[in-house]
Amino acid sequence: MPPIIEVENLHKSFGDTHALAGVSFQVERGSVLGLLGPNGAGKTTAVRVLATLLAPDQGTARVGGLDVSTQANAVRSIIGLTGQYAAVDEKLTGAENLRMVGRLLGMSSTQARSRATVLLERFDLTDAADRQVTTYSGGMRRRVDLAVSLVGSPEVLFLDEPTTGLDPASRSELWAITRELVADGTTVLLTTQYLDEADELADRIVVIDHGQVIEEGTADELKDRTGGRSLEIEFETTAELASAAAVLQPFSAKGGLQQNEQDCLLSLSVDSDTALAVRAIAALTDAGLSPADFRLHRPSLDDVFMALTGHGTETEEQEGPDSIPGNAKSGDTNTEAMNS
Ligand SMILES: Nc1ncnc2c1ncn2[C@@H]1O[C@H](COP(=O)(O)OP(=O)(O)OP(=O)(O)O)[C@@H](O)[C@H]1O
Ligand SMILES: [Mg+2]
Repeated sequence: MPPIIEVENLHKSFGDTHALAGVSFQVERGSVLGLLGPNGAGKTTAVRVLATLLAPDQGTARVGGLDVSTQANAVRSIIGLTGQYAAVDEKLTGAENLRMVGRLLGMSSTQARSRATVLLERFDLTDAADRQVTTYSGGMRRRVDLAVSLVGSPEVLFLDEPTTGLDPASRSELWAITRELVADGTTVLLTTQYLDEADELADRIVVIDHGQVIEEGTADELKDRTGGRSLEIEFETTAELASAAAVLQPFSAKGGLQQNEQDCLLSLSVDSDTALAVRAIAALTDAGLSPADFRLHRPSLDDVFMALTGHGTETEEQEGPDSIPGNAKSGDTNTEAMNS
């Protein structure tokens, strides 16, 4: 089966800003593609082109085999878009927003009403259905926004930074909903600055920076490209650290053993050889050294971004609540317990 989304050599400039400078990628039907990049990378611009809201300067994009430039109406009938900024009418209730979109899509008022009821139920908004959206929490707004984009049962759903600004509980909720949609056969293209979000949801990840694709693959492939797993061992004193480094020297290939005196931490590159990690710990014990702590660390997607671009993501550098959930979680998920 041909890919449901085919993007080839897309260019789009705004004055001197090359928002898209030759972007190509494909998305398989029924899968989730994570379009990952920092602020200003070109993610929203790519989504807007695919959703027929913006004409490209050059290149082609097809959704469901339909050309976004010449068959825009047909494309619109098979896609849903949850934009980066809430697109619902805040003066209306949740139910009214959903019914209005149903009517705009050509449903009868009975059809629109019953579709709204189904979606309100599915998104846990039944109790709030008759309240103005102004009274909704951030998480509820995102849910109603997503519900609105699903009124027409789209084959392809574009989610532009669906969880930016949400608290961790609301993010997990959105992730669960996204997984359900995919289980029902919807193809999802998701943009995100949260590396852990792409890791959680996406089958494949396309990393973009300055309007260009700089890498693509599965989350695991991207992580592997930055050098695989390492055993991190922590000591109480620098004297122990130095002795341990001497003991572990024979276990390390060139450059595979790193000492961080400030944190009293040794890092031994083990890649997929967990037996090596076990032998290393045993050797330390045999030498009478007992680590204060040890763990197996898989590189996070943040590490991947650093390796690919030589700089971190903007998310890391940003101040404010938006940067907290993503970073807090990515650290947690990438350290595996050794003693399980
Ligand atoms: N309508 C516009 N007019 C002028 N410049 C624009 C316009 N839309 C986007 N840009 C510029 O194009 C570049 C890419 O913007 P885009 O919104 O696609 O980035 P993004 O990856 O979605 O970023 P963010 O993570 O902040 O949402 C940015 O430099 C942006 O300022
Ligand atoms: Mg954007």
